[in-house]
Amino acid sequence: MIVYAVWNNKGGVGKSYLTFQLASEYAKNHRAKKVLVIDLCPQSNSSLTFLGGIVNQGDENLSDIQKAVPRKTIAGYIQHRIKSPYVSPKTGSEFPIQVCNYNDYIPLPAKIGVA
Ligand SMILES: Nc1ncnc2c1ncn2[C@@H]1O[C@H](COP(=O)(O)OP(=O)(O)O)[C@@H](O)[C@H]1O
Ligand SMILES: [Mg+2]
Repeated sequence: MIVYAVWNNKGGVGKSYLTFQLASEYAKNHRAKKVLVIDLCPQSNSSLTFLGGIVNQGDENLSDIQKAVPRKTIAGYIQHRIKSPYVSPKTGSEFPIQVCNYNDYIPLPAKIGVA
Protein backbone atom coordinates (compact mmCIF):
# COMPACT_ATOMS: atom_id res chain seq x y z
CA MET A 1 0.00 0.00 0.00
CA ILE A 2 1.34 3.44 -0.96
CA VAL A 3 0.36 6.39 1.24
CA TYR A 4 0.78 10.02 0.22
CA ALA A 5 0.17 12.89 2.64
CA VAL A 6 -0.51 16.32 1.15
CA TRP A 7 -0.04 18.96 3.84
CA ASN A 8 0.96 22.58 4.17
CA ASN A 9 0.05 24.98 6.94
CA LYS A 10 -0.60 27.74 4.43
CA GLY A 11 -3.92 28.00 2.61
CA GLY A 12 -4.28 28.59 -1.11
CA VAL A 13 -1.12 26.75 -2.18
CA GLY A 14 -2.87 23.98 -4.13
CA LYS A 15 -3.28 21.11 -1.60
CA SER A 16 -6.89 20.36 -2.50
CA TYR A 17 -6.35 20.62 -6.24
CA LEU A 18 -3.15 18.52 -6.14
CA THR A 19 -4.93 15.85 -4.06
CA PHE A 20 -7.73 15.66 -6.64
CA GLN A 21 -5.26 15.38 -9.52
CA LEU A 22 -2.96 12.86 -7.79
CA ALA A 23 -5.78 10.51 -6.85
CA SER A 24 -7.59 10.81 -10.19
CA GLU A 25 -4.45 10.22 -12.27
CA TYR A 26 -3.38 7.32 -10.07
CA ALA A 27 -6.81 5.71 -10.42
CA LYS A 28 -6.78 6.27 -14.19
CA ASN A 29 -3.35 4.61 -14.54
CA HIS A 30 -3.88 1.79 -12.00
CA ARG A 31 -7.38 0.60 -12.74
CA ALA A 32 -7.15 -2.55 -10.62
CA LYS A 33 -6.22 -0.56 -7.50
CA LYS A 34 -8.48 0.93 -4.91
CA VAL A 35 -7.74 4.56 -4.10
CA LEU A 36 -8.81 6.04 -0.78
CA VAL A 37 -8.67 9.78 -0.19
CA ILE A 38 -9.03 10.91 3.43
CA ASP A 39 -9.90 14.58 3.32
CA LEU A 40 -9.01 16.00 6.75
CA CYS A 41 -9.51 19.64 5.77
CA PRO A 42 -12.63 21.28 7.31
CA GLN A 43 -13.13 23.18 4.02
CA SER A 44 -13.48 19.82 2.21
CA ASN A 45 -12.56 21.30 -1.17
CA SER A 46 -11.06 18.04 -2.46
CA SER A 47 -14.23 16.17 -1.48
CA LEU A 48 -16.37 18.82 -3.16
CA THR A 49 -14.36 18.45 -6.38
CA PHE A 50 -14.55 14.65 -6.35
CA LEU A 51 -18.30 14.87 -5.80
CA GLY A 52 -18.82 16.90 -8.96
CA GLY A 53 -17.27 20.30 -8.31
CA ILE A 54 -19.14 23.57 -8.08
CA VAL A 55 -20.66 23.25 -11.56
CA ASN A 56 -21.92 19.69 -11.11
CA GLN A 57 -23.68 19.63 -7.72
CA GLY A 58 -20.52 18.90 -5.70
CA ASP A 59 -21.58 21.15 -2.85
CA GLU A 60 -25.12 19.69 -2.75
CA ASN A 61 -23.73 16.14 -2.79
CA LEU A 62 -21.27 16.97 -0.01
CA SER A 63 -23.97 18.65 2.05
CA ASP A 64 -26.28 15.61 1.68
CA ILE A 65 -23.48 13.26 2.81
CA GLN A 66 -22.66 15.47 5.81
CA LYS A 67 -26.32 15.62 6.88
CA ALA A 68 -26.98 11.88 6.48
CA VAL A 69 -27.10 9.49 9.44
CA PRO A 70 -24.71 7.74 9.75
CA ARG A 71 -22.42 10.46 8.40
CA LYS A 72 -20.06 8.80 5.88
CA THR A 73 -17.10 11.09 6.50
CA ILE A 74 -13.88 10.94 8.50
CA ALA A 75 -15.63 13.08 11.16
CA GLY A 76 -18.49 10.57 11.19
CA TYR A 77 -16.01 7.76 11.78
CA ILE A 78 -14.33 9.61 14.66
CA GLN A 79 -17.74 10.43 16.15
CA HIS A 80 -18.64 6.74 15.97
CA ARG A 81 -15.35 5.69 17.64
CA ILE A 82 -15.54 8.14 20.57
CA LYS A 83 -19.02 7.01 21.61
CA SER A 84 -17.57 4.18 23.64
CA PRO A 85 -14.17 2.52 24.24
CA TYR A 86 -15.93 -0.78 23.50
CA VAL A 87 -16.93 0.12 19.93
CA SER A 88 -15.13 -2.10 17.43
CA PRO A 89 -12.16 -0.33 15.81
CA LYS A 90 -12.76 -2.37 12.62
CA THR A 91 -15.58 -0.29 11.18
CA GLY A 92 -13.49 2.06 9.03
CA SER A 93 -14.45 0.32 5.78
CA GLU A 94 -18.10 1.34 6.36
CA PHE A 95 -17.32 5.04 6.03
CA PRO A 96 -15.74 5.74 2.61
CA ILE A 97 -18.16 6.65 -0.15
CA GLN A 98 -17.53 5.88 -3.83
CA VAL A 99 -17.32 9.08 -5.77
CA CYS A 100 -17.95 7.42 -9.15
CA ASN A 101 -21.57 7.12 -7.94
CA TYR A 102 -21.73 10.94 -7.85
CA ASN A 103 -19.31 12.05 -10.57
CA ASP A 104 -19.35 10.50 -14.06
CA TYR A 105 -15.92 11.95 -14.86
CA ILE A 106 -14.14 9.83 -12.23
CA PRO A 107 -12.17 7.00 -13.90
CA LEU A 108 -13.93 3.64 -14.04
CA PRO A 109 -13.72 0.83 -13.09
CA ALA A 110 -11.28 2.24 -10.52
CA LYS A 111 -13.25 3.71 -7.66
CA ILE A 112 -12.08 6.53 -5.46
CA GLY A 113 -13.50 6.53 -1.96
CA VAL A 114 -13.52 9.77 -0.04
CA ALA A 115 -13.75 9.69 3.73
N1 LIG B 1 -1.28 24.05 -10.49
C1 LIG B 1 -2.18 25.03 -10.43
N2 LIG B 1 -2.27 25.94 -11.42
C2 LIG B 1 -3.16 26.95 -11.37
N3 LIG B 1 -4.04 27.15 -10.35
C3 LIG B 1 -4.00 26.28 -9.33
C4 LIG B 1 -3.07 25.18 -9.30
N4 LIG B 1 -3.27 24.48 -8.14
C5 LIG B 1 -4.26 25.13 -7.50
N5 LIG B 1 -4.70 26.17 -8.20
C6 LIG B 1 -5.77 27.10 -7.81
O1 LIG B 1 -5.31 27.82 -6.67
C7 LIG B 1 -6.36 28.01 -5.74
C8 LIG B 1 -5.98 27.40 -4.40
O2 LIG B 1 -5.82 25.99 -4.56
P1 LIG B 1 -6.34 24.96 -3.46
O3 LIG B 1 -6.05 23.60 -4.00
O4 LIG B 1 -7.75 25.26 -3.08
O5 LIG B 1 -5.35 25.31 -2.26
P2 LIG B 1 -5.34 24.79 -0.74
O6 LIG B 1 -6.08 23.50 -0.67
O7 LIG B 1 -3.88 24.66 -0.42
O8 LIG B 1 -5.99 25.87 0.07
C9 LIG B 1 -7.61 27.34 -6.34
O9 LIG B 1 -8.40 28.33 -6.97
C10 LIG B 1 -7.01 26.37 -7.33
O10 LIG B 1 -7.91 26.12 -8.41
MG1 LIG C 1 -7.86 23.07 0.42
